[in-house]
Amino acid sequence: MSSIVLFGPPGAGKGTQAERIMDATGLPQVSTGDMLRAAVKAGTETGMVAKGFMESGQLVPDSVIIDLIKDRILEDDAKNGVMFDGFPRTIPQAEALAEITPVTHVIAIEVPDERIVERICGRYSCANCGSVFHDLFNPIGDDGCGCEKWQEKRRSDDNEATVNSRLNTYHEQTSPLAEWYRSKGIFHAVNGDRAIDEITVDILAVLER
Ligand code: AP5
Ligand code: MG
Repeated sequence: MSSIVLFGPPGAGKGTQAERIMDATGLPQVSTGDMLRAAVKAGTETGMVAKGFMESGQLVPDSVIIDLIKDRILEDDAKNGVMFDGFPRTIPQAEALAEITPVTHVIAIEVPDERIVERICGRYSCANCGSVFHDLFNPIGDDGCGCEKWQEKRRSDDNEATVNSRLNTYHEQTSPLAEWYRSKGIFHAVNGDRAIDEITVDILAVLER
């Protein structure tokens, strides 16, 4: 069993690439952001703790996230490894992950800050299947999202003020993890400021190494 990590700032394209890599590798996507949004919607205890942090662009406490991951990794579809999206985001989370499951590749999708706001503010997705689109850069085509219950959803944290806070949080608390993983020899950076398909090709090439 071995897992991979998709790493990068908000709006880097982690979720977009995860959809494509999932098809190619068979590894299920484990997005802590998606899990937390589901918990908020369901009104669980975890959701009630997480809501305020998410709305202000802060990180949800490590203990909450680590408990979520410990449970998720026990599920049947995770037995051959998973693709983490947006986890880990702190060194304590990465240390906890190392105790839970081996990680073979950390792939950082690098995008300059000045691209992030336009990406986040134009994002929409299907509330039913989760497919991610963009008003300008990746609009839904005539074929739709591929599921039969298309319903447009926009995230409540996708506004300019929260994006700037999420970016600050990323630079202060998450980007130091890059060096931590680099020192372990499993860190690979790809240029995320290009066409979506070109980035997928690069990521798949990294995974073959
Ligand atoms: P989370 O849901 O993980 O949000 P995020 O990290 O801010 O990342 P995003 O989901 O916004 O971006 P993405 O990289 O997935 O980009 P996407 O593919 O959608 O976390 C939300 C919150 O939950 C956090 O703020 C925090 O509070 C909490 N949280 C989550 N995990 C946590 C953890 N581990 N610890 C503590 N707290 C945690 O793409 C964005 C847009 O760009 C889309 O519209 C897409 O179509 C478009 N796009 C994608 N690629 C390209 C491209 N190459 N060119 C042009 N447009 C593109
Ligand atoms: Mg995402």
